[in-house]
Amino acid sequence: MIKKLRKAVLPVAGLGTRFLPATKAMAKEMLPVVDKPLIQYAVEEARAAGIDQFCLITGRGKTALVEHFDIAYELERTLRDRGKSEALEVLRATQVEPGSMVAVRQQEPHGLGHAIWCARAFIGDDPFAILLPDDLVLSETPCLAQLAEAYYETGGNVVAVTEVPREHTNRYGILRIGHDDGRLVEVQGLVEKPLPADAPSNLSIIGRYILMPEVLRHLADMERGAGNEVQLTDGMAKLIGQQPFHGLRYEGRRFDCGDKIGFLEAQIAFALKRPEIAPAVREFLKQYC
Ligand code: G1P
Repeated sequence: MIKKLRKAVLPVAGLGTRFLPATKAMAKEMLPVVDKPLIQYAVEEARAAGIDQFCLITGRGKTALVEHFDIAYELERTLRDRGKSEALEVLRATQVEPGSMVAVRQQEPHGLGHAIWCARAFIGDDPFAILLPDDLVLSETPCLAQLAEAYYETGGNVVAVTEVPREHTNRYGILRIGHDDGRLVEVQGLVEKPLPADAPSNLSIIGRYILMPEVLRHLADMERGAGNEVQLTDGMAKLIGQQPFHGLRYEGRRFDCGDKIGFLEAQIAFALKRPEIAPAVREFLKQYC
């Protein structure tokens, strides 16, 4: 029996050093694309995939992320008094159901695998999604919903994958590929950030995963991998051969919002999808090209 996917883990403990000084006193996941913080895009995408339980893996200085999904009484009251119903609507979309979001602290930065392991009590025996909020995907069907469909098809682990230039393999988790039908790829191996010469392919993992709880057993070993960190990729690799494991070539465009260029491109791409501002954006862009 395939269990329903209801849980999402959102690792948000990173320091955001690539975005200093903006991230000195502010969580990088609060950076907005157009007018919405990255973390909210991730939560909305998870909801669209049927998820109703959320776990933020936070760290010191990240309380704004928890606040963002709470009720803001004073703000709501003021908006109501002033008759600002549109702003009230926008605010409502940021609230989660009571008790549906928990936050766990990753006390020390030992890597993504360690961050996920910190959510073990939340995950329990259930399948779960991981969304890395830095990765933003613009698509017809939300990326995680596409992954969820593949999970219900295969009954196992699924990661979102995309082709990257060879010279960039050392930035990502890379797949060794088995059977490939053009959409779903059988995963035969996984390597974290291999040098281009050592990379088994140029098919890379982006920040969307659906994993089986057994991965936690492997993460618990706290084996150090690339960059001397506990790598999620290494934990996942140990599931290969034990459980179904696939890569999904999702439909959509991914923006690396942890990178300045990716972040700026996301602003433009997402702004052009907003009917109320798209014409003005298109107009002013002409002046720069
Ligand atoms: C992490 C993962 C990597 C994955 C990437 C996607 O790397 O470790 O396997 O390809 O996210 O964004 P990071 O970006 O944290 O270095």
